[in-house]
Amino acid sequence: VKGVIPFYEPGLDRLVLKNVEEKRLSFTTSLAEGMKDADVVFIAVQTPMSESGEADLKYVMKVGEEIGELLDDYKVIVTKSTVPVGTNAELKKVIGAKLKNGVAFDMASNPEFLREGSSIEDFMRPDRVVIGVDSERAEELMREIYRPLYLSDTPMVRTGIETAELVKYASNSFLAVKISFINEIAKLAEAVGADVFDVAKAMGLDKRIGSKFLHPGLGFGGSCLPKDTNAIVHIAQEAGSDMSIVRSAIQVNRDIPQRAVAKAERLVGDLAGRKVALLGLAFKPNTDDIRSAASLELVKLLEARGCKLAVHDPAAMENFKLLHPDLNYCQSPYEACEGADLTILVTEWNQYRQLDFNWLSGAMAGKAFLDCRNVYDRPHLEKFGFKYDCFGRADHSSPA
Ligand code: UDX
Repeated sequence: VKGVIPFYEPGLDRLVLKNVEEKRLSFTTSLAEGMKDADVVFIAVQTPMSESGEADLKYVMKVGEEIGELLDDYKVIVTKSTVPVGTNAELKKVIGAKLKNGVAFDMASNPEFLREGSSIEDFMRPDRVVIGVDSERAEELMREIYRPLYLSDTPMVRTGIETAELVKYASNSFLAVKISFINEIAKLAEAVGADVFDVAKAMGLDKRIGSKFLHPGLGFGGSCLPKDTNAIVHIAQEAGSDMSIVRSAIQVNRDIPQRAVAKAERLVGDLAGRKVALLGLAFKPNTDDIRSAASLELVKLLEARGCKLAVHDPAAMENFKLLHPDLNYCQSPYEACEGADLTILVTEWNQYRQLDFNWLSGAMAGKAFLDCRNVYDRPHLEKFGFKYDCFGRADHSSPA
């Protein structure tokens, strides 16, 4: 084991190496070897979104079959993967059908709530651990596994299996609704001359609302919120129910890149032939993940208008290159901005929070800055002669 992590997650390489060295962690490509002597088997394979928006379960079911073939004494089979309600019941049948000697096993649903970029902290100090089980024996084993967290007073919520499956979708959809809600307020704030920054701050101080997930901007991307909102809409449809609030949240989110392009046009006029610098490609800071990132849609829309794009991201450029090999990839934000008519801040990486506008004002061809994450403010940018726009702050849009 070299301790090389194939994706960007701060601190994970050290944690993995430490535990390998101390012989608490080992890796194998053999399922039989991995399952040998295990009390609990976690399934954590991907459940990508299929064309129609449902979660694609082929990897989960495949691993279920293999587990069934190998099972030779009692184990708890835990799904960590986010799976539609009813999947554990289905998986139980798939595993059961492959059993050779009628050994007992239990299913458990144990949804994960880790955020990319801060997953270690989220794992060590979770707000709650949800354990969906239908047997005492499985509950006991799961509690034993999480005992170190239990000691630090982490609330454990024991539920039925279907309930645990739904908790994950309901939680992520609620977060998505919160983001879309504040993005809609941002749009309204622009129209009525208000400031979403202050609205969100004042709303967030109400403990019933809370200040988290009220940052307006380019909306939600990533591997979870877009996928899980679509999946819950499907789950509801299949159950003869409707998730109209989540459907609206998805729609609000979908419209945002178009609004960003309209703002870009307001700042520099016709975009055809303009050089535009994009700072940030990852769906959020501290990750190299570009799945459902707003940058993908922005690139598409800006290219369709004939822009010449120069892009920078501290971690996600290699991933982006796989989809867009022909963009101008730059080694620093400054290289991307050199000669640009407009700079668009797409992802709020720390290194973009303190840009040298003095330098930029000399190096850019035009002085226009579209701040899609509300990191700066108009008075600051105007000091350097920039036209500026952001989301939801009426007083912070430079006049057209
Ligand atoms: C999310 C959930 O937070 C986590 O509990 C779950 O297990 C997996 O999905 P993650 O996808 O890593 O985690 O990112 P998160 O920090 O939730 O952000 C999701 C998206 O929403 C990002 O694109 C982010 O930029 C955006 N966002 C977040 C906002 O636009 N505004 C906010 O206020 C918060």
